[in-house]
Amino acid sequence: MNTETIDAIKTRKLYIESYGCAMNFSDSEIIASIMGEHGFIQATDEHDADVIFLNTCAIRDNAEQRIRERLKHLRATKTKNSDLIIGVLGCMAERLKDKLLEEEKLVDVVAGPDSYRELPKLVAEVDDGARAINVLLSREETYGDLNPVRLNSNGITAFISIMRGCDNMCSFCVVPFTRGRERSRDPESIVKEAIDLRDQGYKEITLLGQNVDSYLWFGGGPKKEFKKLSVQEQELSVDFADLLEKVALAAPQMRIRYSTSHPRDITEKVVHVMAKYPNICNYIHLPAQSGNSRVLDVMSRNYTREWYMGKIEMIRNIIPDCGISCDIIAGFCTETEEEHADTLSLMEWSQFDFSYMYMYSERPGTPAAKKFSDDIPEDVKKRRLQEIIALQNRISKQKNEARIGKICTVLIEGNSKKSADDWVGRNDENNVVVFPKDTFQKGEFVNVLIEKATTTTLIGKGVSKCAPF
Ligand code: SAH
Ligand code: SF4
Ligand code: F3S
Repeated sequence: MNTETIDAIKTRKLYIESYGCAMNFSDSEIIASIMGEHGFIQATDEHDADVIFLNTCAIRDNAEQRIRERLKHLRATKTKNSDLIIGVLGCMAERLKDKLLEEEKLVDVVAGPDSYRELPKLVAEVDDGARAINVLLSREETYGDLNPVRLNSNGITAFISIMRGCDNMCSFCVVPFTRGRERSRDPESIVKEAIDLRDQGYKEITLLGQNVDSYLWFGGGPKKEFKKLSVQEQELSVDFADLLEKVALAAPQMRIRYSTSHPRDITEKVVHVMAKYPNICNYIHLPAQSGNSRVLDVMSRNYTREWYMGKIEMIRNIIPDCGISCDIIAGFCTETEEEHADTLSLMEWSQFDFSYMYMYSERPGTPAAKKFSDDIPEDVKKRRLQEIIALQNRISKQKNEARIGKICTVLIEGNSKKSADDWVGRNDENNVVVFPKDTFQKGEFVNVLIEKATTTTLIGKGVSKCAPF
């Protein structure tokens, strides 16, 4: 496709809808940036759009069902406007590849997570009457040189992707197939993005990766193991703890968060960096998935129950009040009642502030789908999940109630969902806090006295505005 044709598609309107994890939402900001450079402006809603991109998730079957439903709905919109271009991007696009074009006749563009630079060209191909697909995965693409266009932003908090892909191959997980090999982004470009955000008035950034603890930069190119680096590469290399420190120092007035940690890889060095810098939040998302060592083994998580508990102890020894959250999967292949009880007891022991909890959903092509049968009946999975949720709700409520009477520092992110008279924000440990607006302003750090608590929210009153750190 020549540049004249690409230029001819200028000033059309693009509507992006994002599904799945924070990394996918962050990718949509990269997509908006790439399309913006080719003249596409953001549409206010789907009816105002010339191009609609669904940036999709494939992590569980219900995530894909949601997209299928959405496509059904878009069929009506496309009937009214036959020039409308519909693209399916992201993880579901990567998983299904050209099958998606066969199965969903209204889809014009299919693009995987590493082919977003090609999107203007793919749209131009559709203009020429073709249906366009690019699902090539890369070992190097990090989009590190691009300036993401912040979408649906509150202007206060933002994500920065620090790496892409995942090399872990947990047996249940589709991500290594949809996002490809792990690669880390140039730390200088990460620091620059943090400073740009600070200059635009943002107050908090979250560094994103599927397994941030294996972040390693040694000058570019596909990932190598640390011990396989040359002496010079080793000296110049930047690991996650080094990166966290660089970002904390570069933007000392901003809050820094990160996600996701892997229990096998999280190091004391990282937790010490967190303890050293007041602007790094005391909060770690540390998915256990299961509390039973045999199940963890068949999940290929590469740690045991005891190892996981050791990591929690290490974190609480260094940062006693650290907020810790978890992901749990109920009813993984072959899980017995006793093994499920081990998950409950690990949760009780760990006292997570909150958890994301799911029923196991078999994903075609994953090691678990190849090796095991999905043998836990749906009603058993459901009951186990309900037990897990009930326990987590009890723990969350107790932990939240223990904060009543205490003061915590909250960064105001915007209006509370329930009342325009209240602000909502989060404290250092990532608890959601709601309090009356009074004279406080969005983006301010405020000391809040906690007066009430629910399972998910702390409710209080603002005492005083405070300096960030
Ligand atoms: N990289 C992160 C999580 C990525 S996916 C990590 O390693 O923890 C987010 C969560 O979805 C996972 O932690 C897991 O709990 C859940 N998940 C992934 N695959 C799943 C599947 N096949 N069925 C149910 N839940 C799944
Ligand atoms: Fe999936 Fe495991 Fe990678 Fe997380 S670490 S994205 S669960 S393979
Ligand atoms: Fe994220 Fe879903 Fe892909 S969780 S990495 S968008 S499969």
